[in-house]
Amino acid sequence: MEKIVRVFDTTLRDGEQSPGCSMNLSEKIRVARQLAVLNVDVIEAGFPIASPGDFEAVREVARQVKGPVICGLARATEKDIDRAWEAVREAERARIHTFIATSDLHLQFKLKKSREEVLERAVWAVRRAKQYTEDVEFSAEDAARSDVDYLCRVIAAVIDAGATTVNIPDTVGYAIPDEFGRLIATIREKVENIDRAVVSVHCHNDLGLAVANSLAAVQNGARQVECTLNGLGERAGNASMEEVVMAIRTRKNLFGLTTNIRTEKIYQSSRLVSDITGMLVQANKAVVGANAFAHESGIHQDGFLKKQETYEIMTPESIGLAKSKLVLGKHSGRHAFRARLEEMGYRLSDEEIDRAFERFKVLADAKKEIFDEDIVALIADEVYRIPDIYELELVEAHSATGQSPRAKVRMCVDGECVTVESAGDGPVDAVYSAIKKIAKNDCPLVGYFVKGITGGTDAQGEVTTRVQDGEKIFIGQGADTDIIMASAKAYVNALNRLEHWRRNRTGK
Ligand code: KIV
Ligand code: ZN
Repeated sequence: MEKIVRVFDTTLRDGEQSPGCSMNLSEKIRVARQLAVLNVDVIEAGFPIASPGDFEAVREVARQVKGPVICGLARATEKDIDRAWEAVREAERARIHTFIATSDLHLQFKLKKSREEVLERAVWAVRRAKQYTEDVEFSAEDAARSDVDYLCRVIAAVIDAGATTVNIPDTVGYAIPDEFGRLIATIREKVENIDRAVVSVHCHNDLGLAVANSLAAVQNGARQVECTLNGLGERAGNASMEEVVMAIRTRKNLFGLTTNIRTEKIYQSSRLVSDITGMLVQANKAVVGANAFAHESGIHQDGFLKKQETYEIMTPESIGLAKSKLVLGKHSGRHAFRARLEEMGYRLSDEEIDRAFERFKVLADAKKEIFDEDIVALIADEVYRIPDIYELELVEAHSATGQSPRAKVRMCVDGECVTVESAGDGPVDAVYSAIKKIAKNDCPLVGYFVKGITGGTDAQGEVTTRVQDGEKIFIGQGADTDIIMASAKAYVNALNRLEHWRRNRTGK
């Protein structure tokens, strides 16, 4: 049996289906490039039939991202499959992933089809996809709640039709590890032609068991795991890639398996996805959370200092977390700055490096020591920021005991600059009220989060905001050593994204 577990990343498809996590084209390409750096085996780049934007994103990823197989999702219909092929055809290696539900519940209430009809449709879909590419994956949606004998019949039939990967999703996160492991074992026992396909699993996290179920499947012969960075995905999300990969690596003695993932790129990848989607990673999240390698209790610290392995089962370095490494200071030059960016895996143009370096100098003046985390925040704030429609020129906030907080903001809208003063419940509220007046935007602020990057009172604060316009949520981010300034930047960033979206939609 193969010793490699393939990693099929669906951050750009199932992950993007997380509420409030939609990404624009350039953001999707950045994530896809990072997935290639991580060395995932397959990137599911999207669902091309879903919208023209989804189609374009899959096509651009297929054109621009080299290394992994690029995959497009399609229901078992002619239109979906043809559109998926159109989107992925220019990839170095292209896959069509077609699916149909197999549980009686879905057949009766959603598809209104009999088991025989669904089986025929599944075979038909795989044959259609096979006309375009050798690499065809079939998913039996809601497999975990399907009748096992029927599921095995469908799998055997699609493999005969040419499916090279058969995926067993726990679509609603219903399974329990032991049970799900047994399902995979049964499929491997009962489906005669199973050796002609890779068995894959796709687990959702509704009961918090997505990673455990995926690992139980791997122990029973699954050799592809579908997962997302930071566990993003529909509802409670999908299996988290970093957890699955680090479990297989850390417990190699038990699994006897490996993945192709460059684990030392995990932290940076997780951080990128969090920056882009605005979905913050909880501090106690396994592997990539801020506390994942922090030792608080005296007994733990003592043991850890005597022998790291006493309280650490994997090293921070193995996921690319150089332990708050001091990187640069105010005397560092452009050359050292560029070299550090390259070491950290950034590929920036000269113009982007120049801009980032200017910001670095300002930061180095305000903050004596600059850590890797500061650089990551600086790049997110300066380089990956969309062009400004609203440009902050001045932020002044005043608060004192017994006085009501006031703020003065000068902001330019399409180059026309206005100054407004406003009061508020606190200095941030006053600044936001002034920005709101200048932008003439009444969309509610539905989220405001502050995080300190590295320690100390001179640390940069990083603020994330969420602004809602109807169904859509726009994420804004800002980093600065001044928390009021970081807050203003984050709000204006969200408004810029919202306004860009509105203008693109109306073609202005
Ligand atoms: O959860 C699910 O069943 C899916 C399929 C399309 C694979 O996302
Ligand atoms: Zn899913």
